[in-house]
Amino acid sequence: MQKYIGTSVSRIDGRAKVTGEAKYAAEFNAPGLIHGSVVTSSFAKGRIVRIDASDALRVAGVIDVLSHENRPPMASTDSAYEDETAPKGSPFRPLYDNRIMFSGQPIALVVAEEPEIARFAASLVHAEYDEEAHDTDVFHRRDEAVALEPPTESLFGPPKPRGSAEKAFAAAEVRHAGEYYVPIEHHNPMELYACTVVWEGEGKLTIYDKTQGVQNVHRYVCGVFDMKPDDVRVMSAYMGGGFGSGLRPQYEVVLAVLAARALTRSVRVVLTRQQMYALGYRPAMIQRIELGARPGGTLEAITHEAITVTSQYEDFYRQETAWSGLLYACANAKYAHKLARLDLPTPCDMRCPSAATGVYALECAMDELAVTLKLDPLEMRLRCYSDRDQNTDRPYSSKSLRACYHQGAEAFGWDKRSPEPRSMRDGNELIGWGMATGIWEALQMPIAVRIILSANGHVEVSCATSDIGTGTYTIMAQVAADMLGLPMESITTKLGDSTLPNSPVEGGSWIAASISNGIATTADAIRAELLRLAKQMPNSPLAHAAPDEVALADGKLVSKLDASRAVSIVDAMRHGAVDRIEQEKSTTFADDGSKAHNTHSAVFSEVKVDEQLGVIRVTRVVSAVAAGRILNTKTARSQIVGGVVWGIGMALHEETLLDHTFGRVMNANIAEYHVPVNADVHDIKVIFVDEPDATINRLGIKGLGEIGIVGVAAAIANAVYHATGKRVRDLPITLDKLQR
Ligand code: MOS
Repeated sequence: MQKYIGTSVSRIDGRAKVTGEAKYAAEFNAPGLIHGSVVTSSFAKGRIVRIDASDALRVAGVIDVLSHENRPPMASTDSAYEDETAPKGSPFRPLYDNRIMFSGQPIALVVAEEPEIARFAASLVHAEYDEEAHDTDVFHRRDEAVALEPPTESLFGPPKPRGSAEKAFAAAEVRHAGEYYVPIEHHNPMELYACTVVWEGEGKLTIYDKTQGVQNVHRYVCGVFDMKPDDVRVMSAYMGGGFGSGLRPQYEVVLAVLAARALTRSVRVVLTRQQMYALGYRPAMIQRIELGARPGGTLEAITHEAITVTSQYEDFYRQETAWSGLLYACANAKYAHKLARLDLPTPCDMRCPSAATGVYALECAMDELAVTLKLDPLEMRLRCYSDRDQNTDRPYSSKSLRACYHQGAEAFGWDKRSPEPRSMRDGNELIGWGMATGIWEALQMPIAVRIILSANGHVEVSCATSDIGTGTYTIMAQVAADMLGLPMESITTKLGDSTLPNSPVEGGSWIAASISNGIATTADAIRAELLRLAKQMPNSPLAHAAPDEVALADGKLVSKLDASRAVSIVDAMRHGAVDRIEQEKSTTFADDGSKAHNTHSAVFSEVKVDEQLGVIRVTRVVSAVAAGRILNTKTARSQIVGGVVWGIGMALHEETLLDHTFGRVMNANIAEYHVPVNADVHDIKVIFVDEPDATINRLGIKGLGEIGIVGVAAAIANAVYHATGKRVRDLPITLDKLQR
């Protein structure tokens, strides 16, 4: 029954990707394709008075320059621009009017016969502005930040407080309070945002767009341009990294569609790397944590306050604070969350939004408390361990965090840690060992799956989901193969096409669980149809079998009660004279709310810090993860390793630097925005602990695209403290901060 689930099958799209056969949004061609280059605003706030495109239009090969002054009609209501992941507010409308809300905002599109011509001509477009005063500094705005009302019913609002955190904190024998800062970070996917719109004639468009949700983009384009759903098809078969930046439709698709409709031609728009820094980002945040404890190491009070950045036009926030009171046993908890409005684009989700950042602050604070208590940080977390979600007082459908702590500690050799800072060294380098807990949600979403079984035993399984690189193609084939009892080679996976069965955006680590369940449910319908056919055969060995008494295995329908009673799929279909069986099923998750669904991790990190220079190397990381049943141990490990590498970047490298005078990103390129390179990445060990989950869904699957980053920055920051005795509370921990 389960030949492929849980194994280390290599990704089925791997060959297409490494040979270049896999095509990305900017690689599709069409006869007469023309190219758009974006002109962006050079200041942060105000109005465009006039756009002078005359120089650009004089360049040979330039076809048109589109701006708010001459564009074709676009929708005028906010709702037309609200995609399925839009926060509250008034979504940004590219080239809509003369208002400028952030530096780097698109103000015109130069369309030309060749991309080089378009790009050159874009440099010749002049704009006159009426500038207004702007502010892009969260520290200026912290006092004017607007509070979110607690408790709120919204998905991302802070949870209800419990007990009295103020009183309990004041009365606590041991206290820690600290402020932690995370700067703006950008996703920096390898693939640039790009869109190729193919003009199919009579207003019909095929849109190859870089996105994490083709149907989200489809609805958005139909809304913004008032187009009929059948006239628009959105495709995104492959993505060179999204990490959340592709959850919302980005402006390249609007500009490309605008130009295609204005000129009735096929158009490609590719953003530059620099322009990618004016899309969404992980918001900067100032977090304050207060912990009160008993000398024995149990928690009495938790307060978590956050000030996070949003734009002037939308309220982007996530539940940064909520993880603190959820994770550890503590009777008193209080939360507060404020939004600081800046003249920047709206932030967006970035891998494990809220937990990567909120848990960073909590887990550094827990480490500081352990130091004050003179307790081993792992031991303290075990003393605060909770088998219930503390915010909602519910049990978990499964929680194997204790096993993560034990197996991670053992693999790391944590028991050999000498507790005093600066007490371990290797020559000129101080050695530090730190650890942290990770937690994320195990979400599931409504989804539809189609399976087509041909009489030759070939299967096509399809859904409009994306594969943002996480391995969705592969796990779909694995689950379909096992559920239908066929070899993986017989399965073809189709996704990333808006005409396929309904899917939400791929994000939130929810697709693996959702689609596996959807495939299993649709496979049931295929099996029932095969049984119906098998029963019609003369002297059928399955004549009296009930649907749940048969399984599909090795190309046959087999009685679970008596394996000798079997009919091959091919025979059943041939006898029934059907050459294909097609089923499409939608699945939802009727969660009764009685259980909390989460994934967990325990992260252990070793750093070596040059005593004279302060240079930090992360020499070892062990990440022990509890994420239900693991569908594919190879792609799953890759996800966790990727998350750990990102955590190294968050701890030591990543920071979007703004020049507040101009309200503009200064390091808008990968040379100056630092991410870990190979030389920064050393020994990473991933452990998946056993975590059976009988209730979350029929296969016991949780997602794991995001849990890998959570806790990593804290484990590294804690290790840096242990190595040096210096606590740096604002990320990234650069060597100048260590030497201060
Ligand atoms: Mo993810 S940040 O939901 O792509």
